[in-house]
Amino acid sequence: MSQWRAVILAAGKSKRMKTSVPKVLHRLCGRALIDYVLDVVTQVGVPDENICLVVGFGADQVKRYLAHRPGLRFVHQEQQLGTGHAVACAGEFLARHDGPVLVLAGDMPLITAGSIERLMQSFEQASAACAIGTAHVTDPSGLGRIVRDAGGGFERIVEEADADEQEKKIREINTSIYAFDARQLLGALEKLRPDNQQGELYLTDCPAILQDNGATVLAVAAFSELEALGVNSRRELARAHRIMQDRIIGHWHDQGVTILDPHTVYIDARVEIGPDTVILPFSYLDGPAMIGRGCTIGPFAYLPPGTTLADNTRWEPNLSTR
Ligand code: UD1
Ligand code: CA
Repeated sequence: MSQWRAVILAAGKSKRMKTSVPKVLHRLCGRALIDYVLDVVTQVGVPDENICLVVGFGADQVKRYLAHRPGLRFVHQEQQLGTGHAVACAGEFLARHDGPVLVLAGDMPLITAGSIERLMQSFEQASAACAIGTAHVTDPSGLGRIVRDAGGGFERIVEEADADEQEKKIREINTSIYAFDARQLLGALEKLRPDNQQGELYLTDCPAILQDNGATVLAVAAFSELEALGVNSRRELARAHRIMQDRIIGHWHDQGVTILDPHTVYIDARVEIGPDTVILPFSYLDGPAMIGRGCTIGPFAYLPPGTTLADNTRWEPNLSTR
């Protein structure tokens, strides 16, 4: 397999979050949104030296947060003129590379490495210029729709703001995860024009530009509806939180931990738990923390960050009253 690079878009102002904190630094189960995206990019084999983050709004905060990974590269997007413009800011990084590149939005913490690998494989097998990661969803509102031709092939992506009534009914959406050939992507970026409702340079126009040039473009339904959830608002952050909690608790179930009432238990993503530990209802396990084997926690327990529990510890709150 060829050496991949990755560009992660994280410059947006996150208007809908109504926040002074860069969106990608908002926390999900104790970790920043960007941590989850970096995890999967690392898992699919891209080293930090080959990852470029496009930062803008709150750039210093993002760089400070990621200072423990000195290999990462950063480029600045001074004005947020659209996702296409954001990728163009990484132009030098792309121009140094004659090979494939993943482009991802930094606000998608639920994506998994397996799905990205499927996208990368489809891209390589077809010798494509672009493979768009798509998902079939029940509620596509707000998202870019995948328009296909009569034969089921890719035609173009249409953003919600530019879609007509028929197009709005399409439930296959653009996840904002793409594989591109770096050289061809650069060529397409040069041709972008802000002739759309939002007056932005849309990355979503690049696939059709490439296809019109005769290159191979695929739309690959590699992602599940849950993975496709981008965090654009506090409501979506809460939804992502619930899904991530289900994943974390499911993981600990599989590792031999008893959690009888998952919906009243919170477990930070940075908590480690030994098998045969029992977590009783209404318990909040902050992280990072290390919990040994055979412990019992709760009911009604708060475990502060930094806690280490030896095997067979009983951790319960002091419930004595008056
Ligand atoms: C985008 C896609 C849409 C897709 C959706 C999936 C475009 C035009 N639309 O819409 O087709 O269905 O993602 O979630 O690409 N960003 C920058 N600089 C900018 C603008 C955005 O870095 O100038 C970053 C944001 O920080 C974010 C990512 O790009 O991480 C996506 O931007 P966002 O505004 O969230 O796009 P959507 O409206 O979600
Ligand atoms: Ca988004």
